[in-house]
Amino acid sequence: MVRQIAHKHHGGKKHKILYRERDYHGATIATMSAGGQPERNAQYGPYTPGFVQVPHCLEYRAQWDVEEYGLRAADAIEEVILREGPDTIGALCLETVTAGGGVITPPRGYWERVQEICRKHEILLHLDEVVCGVGRTGEWFGYQHYGIEPDLVTMAKAWPRATPRSPASSPPRRCSSSSRTTATR
Ligand SMILES: Cc1ncc(COP(=O)(O)O)c(C=O)c1O
Repeated sequence: MVRQIAHKHHGGKKHKILYRERDYHGATIATMSAGGQPERNAQYGPYTPGFVQVPHCLEYRAQWDVEEYGLRAADAIEEVILREGPDTIGALCLETVTAGGGVITPPRGYWERVQEICRKHEILLHLDEVVCGVGRTGEWFGYQHYGIEPDLVTMAKAWPRATPRSPASSPPRRCSSSSRTTATR
């Protein structure tokens, strides 16, 4: 969808997808291209072009010595956006709560700032709720703990039970111009 929107509305330019160090999104070549765990990716490249890594937000392995770690970690994403050029980036794909990469609950202020940055640069916020969605954190979706509104949410596992389906959902205002608002594969 991100690539389709890039071609339909931005002459193909806003096609890059940002992903985060330590996050995991699956085992296909495309999803491994957005995989932030080198120990899982090491033997399967080369990968799909157009994926760019941003730093993790795990305060336990702190990368910055600051009080508001969540804001600093979010600002680190904006630094990558500015380095790459906002007009080249279509989406930011993150696990709402990183699961296999260490069960990382984002620090205070992180999600609000990430959403603000995405909106400022017209970048779609895609949340992978394959692990933390569908009631697993006490809310229907993990992002509901943070008062944010993602543009795309992908689910699997708990949602389809034993069937091979992975729903993706998005509010109509974001993606309806190029795709249906809900799709399954
Ligand atoms: C966070 C996360 N995203 C995506 C996936 C991939 O899910 P699927 O294999 O159902 O496409 C997994 C699989 O474990 C996962 O943990």
